[in-house]
Amino acid sequence: MNLKDFIYDVKDFPNKGVNFKDITPLLNNVEAFQYVIEQISIFVKESKANVVVAPEARGFLLASAVAFNTKTRFVLVRKPGKLPRKVLDIEYTLEYGTNHQQMHVGDIQPGDKVVIIDDILATGGTIEAIIDLVNQQQGQVSGISFLADLTDLHDKSLLSKYRVQKLIEY
Ligand code: PRP
Repeated sequence: MNLKDFIYDVKDFPNKGVNFKDITPLLNNVEAFQYVIEQISIFVKESKANVVVAPEARGFLLASAVAFNTKTRFVLVRKPGKLPRKVLDIEYTLEYGTNHQQMHVGDIQPGDKVVIIDDILATGGTIEAIIDLVNQQQGQVSGISFLADLTDLHDKSLLSKYRVQKLIEY
């Protein structure tokens, strides 16, 4: 199956100069969505993970299905103001300005084996922030899975010390 057929390029969205990857056609195709969830689930099992972690919003679409399929716990990473209890907060740099990612304190237990799941790897800022949040709670990152890697937008050595699954590369 050519997964790229189910990811549409949208020029100048949400801002001029950005080439947005729209994954909604993939979710709207039963075979393509099931294939992706199965491939990530295999990776989670191979990683011997007991927890999957994902950022909002599009990471949730994949990770919740994978957690159900692999009988693993699911931990949410969200933008500020969304998680109601005490949070760990990471600030990270964007091209212009900064952003934050948060996780509930106690969602990861020391020794948990974690696979982080997201739809797109672009600059890598989001994934580095999530790795930090897992490490702060003494979790072990046993794998990182992306639906698609936009290889031009980050250094090749990014994530080189981790087991990484990429279903598509651009
Ligand atoms: C997108 C994407 C990744 C992140 C990748 O999320 O889903 O999480 O950007 O970019 P990076 O590697 O440069 O950090 P976005 O923040 O747009 O949130 P959304 O899923 O809620 O649209």
